[in-house]
Amino acid sequence: DGSVALAVVPGDGIGPEVTAEALKVLEVAAPASVKFEQTRYDLGAERYLATQEVLPDSVLAEIRQHDAILLGAVGGKPNDPNLPPGILERGLLLRLRFELDHYVNLRPSRIYPGAVSPLSTEILGKGDVDFVVVREGTEGPYTGNGGALRTGTPAEVATEVSVNTAYGVERVIRDAFARAQRRPRKKLTLVHKTNVLVNAGSLWWRLFEEVAAEYPDVTTDYCHIDAVMIFLATDPQRFDVIVTDNLFGDIVTDLAAAITGGIGLAASGNVNPDRTAPSMFEPVHGSAPDIAGQLVADPTAAILSGALLLDHLGHPEAAARIETAVIEDLAARTPGEKRSTPAVGDAIAARVAG
Ligand code: NAD
Ligand code: IPM
Ligand code: MN
Repeated sequence: DGSVALAVVPGDGIGPEVTAEALKVLEVAAPASVKFEQTRYDLGAERYLATQEVLPDSVLAEIRQHDAILLGAVGGKPNDPNLPPGILERGLLLRLRFELDHYVNLRPSRIYPGAVSPLSTEILGKGDVDFVVVREGTEGPYTGNGGALRTGTPAEVATEVSVNTAYGVERVIRDAFARAQRRPRKKLTLVHKTNVLVNAGSLWWRLFEEVAAEYPDVTTDYCHIDAVMIFLATDPQRFDVIVTDNLFGDIVTDLAAAITGGIGLAASGNVNPDRTAPSMFEPVHGSAPDIAGQLVADPTAAILSGALLLDHLGHPEAAARIETAVIEDLAARTPGEKRSTPAVGDAIAARVAG
């Protein structure tokens, strides 16, 4: 049966603009036997402002029944007094990641031929930049385990406690080792801040060492998060697979996007490797309120997220066709060109169609 139930959450700002292009390309790239049955869910700022609903339980239950989720971006206009920060980010995006157990947040970072990296030619000349960040997706400082006391007074205290369970850390480390083993270089770097965050750091370090013993063919390395910022800017070739916690992974992948050609190219998958719930694919970027409504957003990140979706559903050739089309499109771009969002989507879709 080639029918794929796809939940589409276009979201806010440029989310709907880039999602339309990702769907356009998915339709032409998917094998003829695959038929997408799309259900669109209008969740995000507009719905919240009109109804105070973020993600009703009944909607979550429906989304859960799909084979995969394609998401654009969530986040309303900045400083909207009717939309406090975090409402949508936590209540919609993180709730989906947590409830659907997306413990592997997969963020590939590759400088495609034709992409414009801000790195110097000297650094780029050292070799191909092609690594993948396995960001833990369900724990860390993102769980909402904290609180605020005496808010607004001089004695105010605010905490955000990072939650790291042996179960949660081990499973993401195992996934990262398995991924590293499938790649030619077979190298895995643990990224943390074990010199300061000694409690969580010790758990990550011990489990990393324990699992490493089962993968003698995988080369291991450790790097503090601050030093990773240096190496991404000076020696990104040293990385193959990175495994790290939720917050470090968030930060690392925006810089990774910046050095590999910009946030408009960075794709991600929120993966449930055990397939107990649908995985969710989305660009790394947000709703970009500063450029929303102008049709100038680059849809490539959303389109490449569609490729990750196809790969996850067992169609690696179709995924590769999208990646190849993107590489061709990047090579054809001229500096300063101003193609609209749909024009980029059309061009990539046309290349996929051949
Ligand atoms: P952002 O990623 O939306 O934008 C950062 C900068 O990158 C902006 O200048 C924007 O114009 C630019 N940019 C982003 N995507 C682009 C694209 N496809 N093409 C061209 N330029 C692009 O990050 P932000 O401004 O920090 O956040 C805006 C809102 O999005 C916030 O509400 C935030 O919480 C939310 N957010 C959501 C997600 C998500 O849904 N996964 C991710 C990040 C941020
Ligand atoms: C991302 C975003 C989200 C995150 C926010 C919007 C919750 O920045 O997908 O990278 O921090 O994970
Ligand atoms: Mn982010």
